[in-house]
Amino acid sequence: MIINPAGQDYYKKQVELAKICGVSEGTISNWINKAKDSKNLLQLIEIKDRFYIAKNEHNISELKKLTEEATNYQNIVYKDIYPKEELYDTLSESQTISLINSLKTKGTAPCKFVFMGNGAEKWDKLYSKIHNSDNYGSPTKRYLFEKTINFFEEYISKFDSVIITDLGCGNFKPAKPLLEKIEKSGKLDKYICIDISKDMIEIAKTEFSKDFDENKFVGHVLDLELHSTEEALLKQKNNAKKSVNILLMFGGTIGNIENQVKVFNHIKDGMHPEDLLMIANAYDEIDRRTVFPAFDFEEGFAHVSHAACMLNIDKGVSIVEKIYNSNTTAREVNLIIKENIKINFTRYNDSINIKSGESINIWKHKRDTFELVSNKIRESDMELQFIVKHPTEAQMLYVARLA
Ligand SMILES: C[S@@+](CC[C@H](N)C(=O)[O-])C[C@H]1O[C@@H](n2cnc3c(N)ncnc32)[C@H](O)[C@@H]1O
Repeated sequence: MIINPAGQDYYKKQVELAKICGVSEGTISNWINKAKDSKNLLQLIEIKDRFYIAKNEHNISELKKLTEEATNYQNIVYKDIYPKEELYDTLSESQTISLINSLKTKGTAPCKFVFMGNGAEKWDKLYSKIHNSDNYGSPTKRYLFEKTINFFEEYISKFDSVIITDLGCGNFKPAKPLLEKIEKSGKLDKYICIDISKDMIEIAKTEFSKDFDENKFVGHVLDLELHSTEEALLKQKNNAKKSVNILLMFGGTIGNIENQVKVFNHIKDGMHPEDLLMIANAYDEIDRRTVFPAFDFEEGFAHVSHAACMLNIDKGVSIVEKIYNSNTTAREVNLIIKENIKINFTRYNDSINIKSGESINIWKHKRDTFELVSNKIRESDMELQFIVKHPTEAQMLYVARLA
């Protein structure tokens, strides 16, 4: 089928597409000829009497189907890939098996694993790199913080002691301004970090201890997608004092989570009725969907590709793709595999075959809108207390409590 070329991206060189699909250039020409005769479903664009395959989601799935059909006739050879020992040293047995299952069923390496082991240091390096950048970072966060602080100061004035719980704490730095305010008021009881990565908690502890009493630091290694916060949080309150827990989830952590309502329920398990949950995430604006400023830095790519790096999938066998996927309404970083590979998990006697042209998702992030926030907070049986968006930057912050 021939479609209107206006605004459509397309595969400019057949040789590149042949490489991505793992077929010959002749096969690509053949597919184009068949598409002209409506013998396959590829959408073509005609430019100066030449026909090109449009680069869109429809064609990605059609190309996948055609590639499968073509390679089924071939005697397929797979390049053996062996994950680094680092993978087995960093992830627990169940995390590794869950990673293998996720690769097999969804073609995804869950991005939560990129913060583990050495990945914690990689995140810290990226954070330092972008902290003062205009694209992402502190002036915007400061603006949102200033907008919220009056609400908080008034709220906190009703309590004698305050716990801050940082959900997905990163390196502690984003939580520091709020902790400084509370410490100054003499009400800071403790700072609790909950994170999937023990190495991240160590970094947060070191940073926290530079300015605060180390005895006020509590760390819990916990995967919020899998586990409730009840055990870690409910018993932490100082019963002798009127106290409140302010739970933070900063840095767009919520946007990386597939089932956000499930995570909210795990968080709610650890909340008392008076506690507040404060979330910061990027705001969804159409013209910023395909911009990935953090990953333009070398440090950004090192961070986002940490799990792929442990799997030993490097640029030699893959091409990086950064897209907005309208099916999942998420921004994604994918690795398109350039040649047939077989990932051998010898420790677990398992393997995965991935054909050339198939892709592995290594990062997925959903931005928020006012509507999305109010829907998911309602679905989680919480009440929205406060919501603010930066007037020009695509960042928002919202506060909720138990309904
Ligand atoms: C994008 S970083 C944000 C860090 C920090 N809050 C900030 O604003 O810079 C995400 C953090 O959440 C943690 N994390 C990601 N998925 C998690 C999960 N399922 N359970 C617990 N922590 C998780 C990561 O280890 C990391 O520290």
